[in-house]
Amino acid sequence: MTEWINVAKLEDIPRQGARVVRTAAGEIAIFRTVDDEVFALRDKCPHKGGPLSQGIVHGKKVACPLHDWKINLDTGLAVAPDVGCAARFPVRVIDGAVNLSLTPEA
Ligand code: FES
Repeated sequence: MTEWINVAKLEDIPRQGARVVRTAAGEIAIFRTVDDEVFALRDKCPHKGGPLSQGIVHGKKVACPLHDWKINLDTGLAVAPDVGCAARFPVRVIDGAVNLSLTPEA
């Protein structure tokens, strides 16, 4: 069974931005798209560990602030030709509250 923890309010996360949550599983970035979808990825770029939470969200991708790799928020995969993957975590919004699970998605 998935264990959810309440980490933020949706309104506390800027649209096209992110908020970092420090957890027992490390720092996790919660992203919010213009359409108010939320995604959670480990806050480490698969390239050289840049803080993805500092990047700008375009559609369902975030651009790493260090070397501009684009990472798909829904899969954690880097956009080709770059290759790599950031761990994804389940996240959901219920009544404006953002819930996170610390069990990474397979
Ligand atoms: S560390 Fe993210 S693109 Fe290089």
